Formats: sequence, structure tokens, C-alpha cells
Amino acid sequence: MPDKDHEINRIAWNEMVEVHFKHPGYRVKEFLDGQQMLQSIEIEEVGDVEGKSLLHLFCQFGLDTLSWARQGATVTGVDISDKSIEYANLLAEKVGIRATFIRSDVVDLIGKIDAAFDIVFQSYGTLCWISDLESWARVVAHYLKPGGLFYIVDLHPILSVVLEDEVSYFKRGPYRYKDSPDYCDKEYRIKNELVEWEHKLSDIINVLIEAGLTVEKVNEFDKTVDPGNEGWIKREGYYYPPDGPSRYPLMFSIRVRKPAQP
Ligand SMILES: C[S@@+](CC[C@H](N)C(=O)[O-])C[C@H]1O[C@@H](n2cnc3c(N)ncnc32)[C@H](O)[C@@H]1O
Repeated sequence: MPDKDHEINRIAWNEMVEVHFKHPGYRVKEFLDGQQMLQSIEIEEVGDVEGKSLLHLFCQFGLDTLSWARQGATVTGVDISDKSIEYANLLAEKVGIRATFIRSDVVDLIGKIDAAFDIVFQSYGTLCWISDLESWARVVAHYLKPGGLFYIVDLHPILSVVLEDEVSYFKRGPYRYKDSPDYCDKEYRIKNELVEWEHKLSDIINVLIEAGLTVEKVNEFDKTVDPGNEGWIKREGYYYPPDGPSRYPLMFSIRVRKPAQP
């Protein structure tokens, strides 16, 4: 049975993807001109992907998936939104990169891909769409080869508490939003309902450990990829507060590995 709230999000994401694909913030034109879409944090922390198989969860229209392919990986992208997958295939064809894109809820993925990967990757705006972290971690562990690497980088969960009065760090949700502004095109109001969850950092780490994975590195950053803060200073692809170093973490990353011997 598909998760009812995830289905609500699928419909909203089909709407949002149309907005994002055309919006200059997503830099589709620059991608088509050959530019790299990945940020320096993930490039450094994931390391060399040449010749490796990479599964990208929550891939939207595949800009990062295809950028990993440009770095030498053999790539598969997964997203719940039909429109995302349509555009991802279109982009792959336009730039002549061989990639596989699969439309699926991440938590329902097992059985839809018959392979294991050297790397499972996800970035920027992902776990807030997942009601059940245990199912997500099981999927991650399932699709890693023995010795394989899982890597996530994202906005820090403390940010929702800082930015939204109704959110508590310790209340998972669901939080339901109607008529909310799109994060990329601030002028656009999302017509469909969105359902989000808040997962604290310790929960994210603990479900990965419980799924049998070994934590290699956890990082918290005082810079963000989010351009949505007025007056923030952009330096080398990241945004910093205008009035000195941030007092709280803005992003986090986690690197875990599946043991080589089960
Ligand atoms: C903010 S984007 C993150 C991707 C990437 N950082 C980007 O900006 O292109 C979130 C993506 O997650 C997808 N998504 C939301 N819920 C999902 C789910 N349950 N399973 C798979 N994908 C999902 C959405 O369709 C959307 O493309």
C-alpha cells in the first residue's frame, strides 16, 4: 500500500518540478552547457566516483545524478515524482549521458532495482519527505554492496525550529502545509498540500546504525546552499550570515559504510 501522505507529496512535487525546471535557480541551462551542479562538500566527502555505481535517492530531475555521471560514475536516480523522472530522462538524452531513472517512493524501492551499488547518495531536501526513517534506512542498507558507502548532506534539522514557530525539534510531525511559497520561486504558491516530517540528527544517525551500517563521519557546517536568506554573503558556492559566523549549524553530512563482511 503506498503511503497516503507520500502520495499527497507526489502530486505536489509534480506541480513544483514544473516550476523548478523553468526557474533560473536550478541552473538547467548551465547544466546543459556542461557545468557541474555538485557542491564542493559532497565532491570532497564522497571522494572519487570514477568507475563506481551510484544510486541517487530523491534525484528530482537528475541534475546531480548526471553530474556524478560526468565525474565518472554509472548512475541510477530515483524519485517519487512522475514529472521529475520525465525531465531527468529528457536531460540525460539531451546531454548524451547514459543513466537509469526510476519513479518510486524511496521507501517502496526494494524489488524495483535488481542491483547493489558502490555508493548510495542523497542531498539537500530529502528526509523531510519521509514519514518512516526505519524503512528509509533499510532501503539504503539493502542497496549498498558490502563495503559500499552511503552519503547524505542536507540542511540541518535545527533550521526548521529556528525559522518556523510551529515546529519543535522533538516533534516529528506530520506538519501539513497549504498554499505555501515554493522554496525556489518565492513568488509561486504551491496549490497542492505538502506533508513534511522533522527528523532530529540523532534519529537519522541511529536508524542507519540499526540498519547495520557503520558511521565513518558526521559533520555540521556554518554555511548553507540555501540562497533564501536576505543579505547573506555568498562565497565559493555557499551562503554565510551577514553579521558574523552562524550561532547554530546550517547543514550536516553523514558518511556510513556497509561492513565488507556481513
Ligand atoms: C528538494 S528535492 C531534493 C533533490 C535535489 N537536492 C534537488 O534539489 O534537485 C526533493 C525531491 O524528493 C522527491 N521526493 C519526495 N518524497 C519522496 C519519496 N517519498 N520518495 C522518493 N522521492 C521523493 C521529490 O519529488 C523531489 O524531487
